Amino acid sequence: MATEQVSVISKLPQTGTSVFSVMSALAREHGAINLSQGFPDFEPDPALTDRVSWHLKNGGNQYSPSTGAASLRERIASLAGDFYGAKYDPESEITVTSGATEALFAAITAIVNPGDEVIVFEPAYDSYIPAIELNGGVPVFVPLQYPDYHIPWNQVKKLIRRKTRMILLNFPHNPTGAVLSEEDVAELTKIVKGTEIVILSDEVYEHIIFDGKRHESMARHPELARRSMVISSFGKSFHCTGWKVGYCMAPAYLTREFRKIHQFLTFSTSTPFQLALADFMENNEWFANLAGFYQEKRDYFLNQLKGSTFKPLKCGGTYFQLLSYQGLSKLGDFEFARKLTAENGIASIPVSVFYHERHDQQVLRFCFAKGEETLRKGAEILKSIK
Ligand SMILES: Cc1ncc(COP(=O)(O)O)c(C=O)c1O
Repeated sequence: MATEQVSVISKLPQTGTSVFSVMSALAREHGAINLSQGFPDFEPDPALTDRVSWHLKNGGNQYSPSTGAASLRERIASLAGDFYGAKYDPESEITVTSGATEALFAAITAIVNPGDEVIVFEPAYDSYIPAIELNGGVPVFVPLQYPDYHIPWNQVKKLIRRKTRMILLNFPHNPTGAVLSEEDVAELTKIVKGTEIVILSDEVYEHIIFDGKRHESMARHPELARRSMVISSFGKSFHCTGWKVGYCMAPAYLTREFRKIHQFLTFSTSTPFQLALADFMENNEWFANLAGFYQEKRDYFLNQLKGSTFKPLKCGGTYFQLLSYQGLSKLGDFEFARKLTAENGIASIPVSVFYHERHDQQVLRFCFAKGEETLRKGAEILKSIK
């Protein structure tokens, strides 16, 4: 390949290799137990993968409608009805996307114009800020309050002004495991009343919520739903993150704009996966059992950790457990995570990377979407570190 280059002005000059790739590479190099990767190390239900094979062999190989396979949109509508009492019209209010990542990008692109402000809570999932900035928007950062990572509503109130176009929520929350309460919903309802604010709600972990709590989806609250774009992903719910099938539910006036962007980003999403998911979702039993499945994993991991110097923070949902190592080391979290991987053989994600300016509370994120043996070995290593 010739080495001569033309000049390119980077649109994302700050973006480098993601910490997720860095930690996984380091874990591979040192043969470490990898609890840094945010995805399951177990397979989807064979009944689901069988349906994919079936559709591959039975004509499910051409483009699906840009809005998504009709059967899948109907299932999504029925799910939102069963869980949240919401009524979304599959024709005009539900769009299937190539993962939640595409849905988030399309929603932000559809709504955020240059100079618009978007309230983003930190720590924040890494795709939000680039999407806002590529659209000329301005992220306005609000730190969730350590150690339970609740929203400081008084601070939010002070930041709302005419330019505020969007509030971006992500609950259950990656990386902290924080969940929304009814009080949060009441505060949010008061704050957005009478404004032009759109709520973009990333709810990919909606069905992974623990201790008998209910998920406060924006879809559940009509006052909020009428200005909300609710994003989810089947990857998280069916252990198939590699399929990249997600969706957006939003009132028709927002969906219209959303679909204009989606049409030119990907046009449509992989057909056999959509058809298989629709078949598998004939009843919603799977979703009802998911929280229990992951709660057992959380509790197993925490039990195995008993007696450790690492201090678990509260995890109300998702498949991430934060552990504080205050008192164990004075190292910054990035350095400490590297050391744990290279010297102790366990990989995690330093939480400071989820902030625009490294905000280090000496906390690491561990993914417990793993088999028991992996979790047991991981906890054993952590317990041995004094
Ligand atoms: C909070 C959050 N939003 C969005 C995504 C992306 O979902 P998908 O794989 O469906 O694009 C993830 C994946 O890790 C996530 O944790």
